[in-house]
Amino acid sequence: MIASREETSSPGGPPGNGGGTVTGPGAADLLRDLAGTGRDLRRGGFSRHMFTDAEMALREWFVAEASARGLSVEVDRNANLWAWWVPADVGLTERAVVTGSHLDSVPGGGAFDGPLGVVSALRAVDLLRAAGVRPRRPLGLVVFAEEEGGRFGVPCLGSRLLAGSTSRAEALALRDLDGVSLAEAAARVGLDASRIGPDPERMDRIGCFVELHVEQGRGLVDLGEPLAVASSVLANGRWGFRFTGEGNHAGATPMDSRADPLLPAAHVVLAARRVAAAGDSLRATVGKLIPRPGGTNVVASSADLWLDARGPDMQRTRRMVEEITTAAREAAEVEGCGLEVRQEAANTEVHFDAVLRDQIRDLLTSREAQARTGSRDVPLLATGAGHDAAVLAAAPGGRPVPTAMLFVRNPTGVSHSPAEHAEDDDCERGAAALALVLGRLLVEGAQPS
Ligand code: GLV
Ligand code: MN
Ligand code: MN
Repeated sequence: MIASREETSSPGGPPGNGGGTVTGPGAADLLRDLAGTGRDLRRGGFSRHMFTDAEMALREWFVAEASARGLSVEVDRNANLWAWWVPADVGLTERAVVTGSHLDSVPGGGAFDGPLGVVSALRAVDLLRAAGVRPRRPLGLVVFAEEEGGRFGVPCLGSRLLAGSTSRAEALALRDLDGVSLAEAAARVGLDASRIGPDPERMDRIGCFVELHVEQGRGLVDLGEPLAVASSVLANGRWGFRFTGEGNHAGATPMDSRADPLLPAAHVVLAARRVAAAGDSLRATVGKLIPRPGGTNVVASSADLWLDARGPDMQRTRRMVEEITTAAREAAEVEGCGLEVRQEAANTEVHFDAVLRDQIRDLLTSREAQARTGSRDVPLLATGAGHDAAVLAAAPGGRPVPTAMLFVRNPTGVSHSPAEHAEDDDCERGAAALALVLGRLLVEGAQPS
């Protein structure tokens, strides 16, 4: 498959210390390989949820690409995919430099959120080899499972399990909307979930982690720069609200004799906007609302909705959720409905490792890097989007993993939508920058924090 693609070279020549011809597909070519997989004809964009046919096809694609590069591939106990470049003269006890992202999507998502980081990791291997870089430690490429939480409701599930932020019991209790458990879903695709759970040995092998991601905002477009380094990630969490009322006939039930669960549900939507808008850097969204049974001429008997809440820290995020919940309880009482609220996920705020961040920025603002990536400046950008990198950075207990992120310009500034975009040249600049960073880390290692 690779041999049949047109060969491209990175802008300004190969990264790293040596020369050499860069062969193989560019980052955008690799991304185009995925364009036919998981298209959602109903919603638009892509729906690639954990263990669906589409996501399994993407996994197969990654295994084939990694194998074609001579990398050894394995699936860890939490369904994360790994590909390893361990040069013969590198000691197995050396901690690895790890890069990667995810291949799953939100429902009707864009082509870049996740896959850009994965294809850039593969492209970086090609660039490093063409540049003659000789790693002194292993390079790991990882595809984290269920980053979006699109099937089982917990975002960054694969990295959370790896890091020990989600327990085995919590994972085994997860079910999708059809009632299929995580273990059953794994078994259906031939994966063994019996060893699911925290993986401290694997965590201990990670010396540092660098994730490249499409920017999910307008920071770079407005600055006129192609690349940024991440500074921080908002705290984020998900709460499920179940309102119960009385299912009935839309025509035969007088308006004053109803217990319609969609009434308090609507109050949550409005309260989310009101409370978040009144705060500083708060976000609250109801993006999923399911009335049951869901008929046009039926007063619903129950309604499930999910609140996605984010803020500068968990305390302020929780306070916002409490305020919204109070509004929900009051509205439920007025309508004569019941309400159950449960927290489904929580990820703390993260400020990425300052030493690694500055090391990367210094490298990417060097003359050599500027020539290769077209960056004049590499700004620091905060993000409200969640990432596996943030989960590794906030891993509980043990040794914190120095973690960093690179962002690639998104001309629309839109994400979690088919409108998400990155230009081919910027994708290649991102891969070239990632290769430079990995090359430095593979040879010199991360400076101690
Ligand atoms: C993932 O992209 C999230 O921020 O929810
Ligand atoms: Mn996403
Ligand atoms: Mn993502």
